[in-house]
Amino acid sequence: MPVTIVVGSQWGDEAKGKMVDLLSEQASIVARYNGGDNAGHTVINQYGTFKLRLTPNGFSTPDASCVIGSGVVLNLATLISEIQTIQQAGIDLTNRLWISPRCHVVMPYHPAVEAVYEEAKGAGATGTTRRGMGPVYADKVSYNGIRLFDFADPAVLKSKLETQLKIKNSFLQASGKQPLDLEEILSEKLAQYAQLKQYVQEPFGLIQDTLARNGEILLEAAQGSLLDNDWGTYPFVTASTTISGGAAAGLGVAPRWIQRVIGVAKAYTTRVGAGPMPTELLDADGEALRKAGAEFGTVTGRPRRCGWFDAALVRFTSQLNGCTELALTKLDVLDFMPMIKICIGYHHPESGDRLRAYWEGDAAWLSQIQPVYLEMEGWMQSTTAVRQFGDLPARAQAYVHKAAELTGTKISFVSVGPERESIIRCE
Ligand code: GDP
Ligand code: IMO
Ligand code: MG
Repeated sequence: MPVTIVVGSQWGDEAKGKMVDLLSEQASIVARYNGGDNAGHTVINQYGTFKLRLTPNGFSTPDASCVIGSGVVLNLATLISEIQTIQQAGIDLTNRLWISPRCHVVMPYHPAVEAVYEEAKGAGATGTTRRGMGPVYADKVSYNGIRLFDFADPAVLKSKLETQLKIKNSFLQASGKQPLDLEEILSEKLAQYAQLKQYVQEPFGLIQDTLARNGEILLEAAQGSLLDNDWGTYPFVTASTTISGGAAAGLGVAPRWIQRVIGVAKAYTTRVGAGPMPTELLDADGEALRKAGAEFGTVTGRPRRCGWFDAALVRFTSQLNGCTELALTKLDVLDFMPMIKICIGYHHPESGDRLRAYWEGDAAWLSQIQPVYLEMEGWMQSTTAVRQFGDLPARAQAYVHKAAELTGTKISFVSVGPERESIIRCE
């Protein structure tokens, strides 16, 4: 099984980081291929609690290389502080961290431009993490990006920054914002690059050598499939390709090597930011899920919107990603729900009783549909100490089996707590 991808099956924060941390024990390489520091992946293991945004969660496995692929966009300050945090925990990343020089770099004008967009949209704003993701990826595809390659020669960096500041400053000033200063940005970025330089090395050769000797490569997707720029609830999405298919381009691993795709799904649904969410609960049940699941954004601290498990969505994302299996996380959060609902599809006001699917419409269409639920009795007891699937309450086992049936995907892992040990492998 050379390449395994761990991908988010919902709207992000499904506990991908924790799954990757566990699976990294067998990996030679753990890599990120998309997104930037809009991601926040929590890991609790023998070294402590980490909320990493850019560093792949293989850092706790001493023999694993941590690779940041070309599809990732880098906030240099975030990366420096993460490396320091990891080193303070007693883990040395020297010769273990590989950052592709093809990575595009987030510049101060990216969040500034994003702020203008978000403010202009008013009530229709995407509700981004304000990390500059939309503008940095837009610069990438419109040939205006600045990559780590460009940092090797300060004169090249300066010239590229000069051109970009001409464009960005005229936009910012026309929008009533302060222009940004070339020399200030240049000296800050060069100083940051000096701290990261030792890790900037193209991982392509390492990856190909590892594939050639059948070594294990584990890929950590950021965000969730429903935030994917093509397949998510556009325009309430993120700027990158979040699905498994993005890995080939964002890392340089050909599709033929990808043999295992683990979709990570919460046992209920959450979403941060704006956009349709068919099973959202705006009542006491939603509040109970938020409280029990501590559902507050890792990056922004915003309360996450909570709702019932949407099997129709996860069925779709399993197909989209080619999931060979699922990890169903945060099952413990449902422990004291007397009754639990699962969404099996939607009714649209214009099509009567015909069951409709997510992929049939856009975000506006999705905001008009009504979820169709089936109900199951809750198990009303704590599962947090359970370590074997057979020791889960019978109703909890039934819930997991139902989720597998409705999503059409085998469930290989169930998680009942935030720690690494709380992951149950289903036989
Ligand atoms: P990621 O972005 O997909 O890596 O997920 P996040 O780290 O942003 O969010 C997942 C949150 O749920 C974190 O606070 C985890 O510590 C926590 N968590 C993970 N698995 C479980 C679980 O099985 N039960 C509970 N109660 N919390 C969990
Ligand atoms: P992880 O990897 C949850 C959401 C934002 C917003 C939309 C666009 O931790 O699962 P962006 O800043 O990317 O332009 O915001 O995407 N979003 C996430 N939501 N988890 C994430 O990452 C997210 N990354 C972005 O809230 O709705
Ligand atoms: Mg997260």
